[in-house]
Amino acid sequence: MSLSSAILQVRNLSVSFGKLKAVDNISFDVNRGVIHGFIGPNGAGKTTTIRVISTLQVPDSGGVWVGGMNVLTHPNEIRSKLGYMPDHVGVYSGLSVLEYLDFFALARRIFGSKKQSVISDVVELTGLGDLLDREVESLSKGMRQRLCLAQTLLHEPDLLILDEPASGLDPRARIEFRELILELRRLGKTVFLSSHILSELSPICDSVSIIETGNIVAHGPLEEIQDRMSKGVTSFEVTLLKDPNEDVEALLSQLPSLSLKMIQGRKFRFEWNGEVEGVAKVWELLSVNGFVISSISKKEDDLENIFMSLTTGEVQ
Ligand SMILES: Nc1ncnc2c1ncn2[C@@H]1O[C@H](COP(=O)(O)OP(=O)(O)OP(=O)(O)O)[C@@H](O)[C@H]1O
Ligand SMILES: [Mg+2]
Repeated sequence: MSLSSAILQVRNLSVSFGKLKAVDNISFDVNRGVIHGFIGPNGAGKTTTIRVISTLQVPDSGGVWVGGMNVLTHPNEIRSKLGYMPDHVGVYSGLSVLEYLDFFALARRIFGSKKQSVISDVVELTGLGDLLDREVESLSKGMRQRLCLAQTLLHEPDLLILDEPASGLDPRARIEFRELILELRRLGKTVFLSSHILSELSPICDSVSIIETGNIVAHGPLEEIQDRMSKGVTSFEVTLLKDPNEDVEALLSQLPSLSLKMIQGRKFRFEWNGEVEGVAKVWELLSVNGFVISSISKKEDDLENIFMSLTTGEVQ
């Protein structure tokens, strides 16, 4: 089977644990060279799906193809092309960062000068250069994540499968980790990463799949999902210069295209149903009635909103 732009193809995949359908007949593709977010609440089936993709779990039915190869018939070839970082990464006590990388390079059968050069490349990429002699156990969570990513990259995989890579990181470490993911895309890698912290993915994902109770509830480029969800409705936030002492709500109710969503002191948020240009009427109405607008901004529907509209929060 040959695939054009899809590096990963999931077809009618189902996985059960006893009576529980953890993954229920899901299908989606991931194109080569993108960052793809696999998002869903706890227990949605993310790790189970990821374990099938990474050749660690046999499905009940359906299939997964990586680079055109079936995970069931070509597990070894796939393991050489895929880097998998699990949600909980173990570290070996008593090893330094360099010894840790050396150990995994040898386990990948990378020897001699090739080994030196790949270790030096991943160390540079992940910024671990000053930590080579540090005991792995003494590293902070953020540094450990970098080390695990470095280890995942040693065999130069095309596809990276990262299960909740940013969980437990502080905001700075999370931003640095995101930068690293973007750098991997620049290097031509495809990155498939899961999360239930939605806002951490929206700035970097080219496409997403949203999974809930083992079902894909949305899939595709982020903008397409955003467009589909907003259906011609645009959200705006307005800040007035002063606290209004008159009833802004009654005034705004004169505009049929406007639906007020929140009003709090000098700030209010509304949805505009129609041509975006028409929103100038809001400005006009407020100005004529003596309100001074200090700012007005268009709110993009972020992943968080999309996620809340698509999922019910049902847990199996
Ligand atoms: N080995 C297992 N045995 C029995 N049930 C399992 C097993 N692994 C997962 N499950 C169940 O399958 C469902 C999906 O679990 P999974 O770990 O794939 O979810 P997840 O989306 O990764 O969740 P989280 O965000 O908490 O990591 C859950 O109800 C879970 O309890
Ligand atoms: Mg999980």
